[in-house]
Amino acid sequence: RKTAPLPDDIRGMKGGTPIVSLTAYTTPMAKMMDGVCDFALVGDSVGMVLHGMPSTLGVTMEMMIMHGTAVARGLSKTMLVIDMPFGSYEESPQQAFGNAARLMRETGAAAVKLEGGQHMAETIGFLVRRGVPVMAHIGLTPQSINTLGGYKVQGRADQAKALMADATAVAKAGAFAVVLEKIPAKLADAITAQIDIPTIGIGASAGCDGQILVVDDMLGLFTAFKPKFVKRYGSLGEDGEAAIRTYAEEVRARSFPADTHVFSDKAPGN
Ligand code: KIV
Ligand code: NA
Repeated sequence: RKTAPLPDDIRGMKGGTPIVSLTAYTTPMAKMMDGVCDFALVGDSVGMVLHGMPSTLGVTMEMMIMHGTAVARGLSKTMLVIDMPFGSYEESPQQAFGNAARLMRETGAAAVKLEGGQHMAETIGFLVRRGVPVMAHIGLTPQSINTLGGYKVQGRADQAKALMADATAVAKAGAFAVVLEKIPAKLADAITAQIDIPTIGIGASAGCDGQILVVDDMLGLFTAFKPKFVKRYGSLGEDGEAAIRTYAEEVRARSFPADTHVFSDKAPGN
């Protein structure tokens, strides 16, 4: 395709070829996935992955805007979605609209993502009616880690009904897609069959309408820990460590820089 899909195009992929997505935080990473992924998410995981924060709770609007602007510069054929950070939308639909509009205006993102099910449905409807396409995010919602009591699987046993209700509530409110994070595969399949918007799985099911992973996780670049749902498709962290060690050895041995990396005193020439 020549241009990026729009939220409505992503919605239209329900039940078809799986939707492919990754997180992105920088221009070069965005360029790597441009035209390959259907959408890229500037996730608030940026706080943990790039800034060494212990959770996503410390991420600010300014950080999201800075990374969102960088990612936008690398995309022309992939849609940009940006996370609303903790504290920027929960207070009221009005607060959410002000911050969503700012994120879209300053980064060029086509849509925002926010965490929460039934309790965020009113806000989702408020945003959508005012021109802000919303991707919902239910199941394990990392911004609520302190009330959830850890990064555990959500929606098991007696929690399943509430999670199904969350999914139907965000779909009814007008979300164009919903991320399902760390829930039983059977429940993810039941939700996917039940609602008419695409489900984007992360630790959910191959039966979801799409998948997302944190790009630094799947490249093997973020190695502080590895959730079960992550598959490493590369080992850039190991490659990087090895490259840095080789560089250090060569500098200490004076074998870098070599003749090809230095300049003669004769101009013109290299
Ligand atoms: O912030 C993030 O990376 C996310 C994805 C894991 C869905 O919200
Ligand atoms: Na997130």
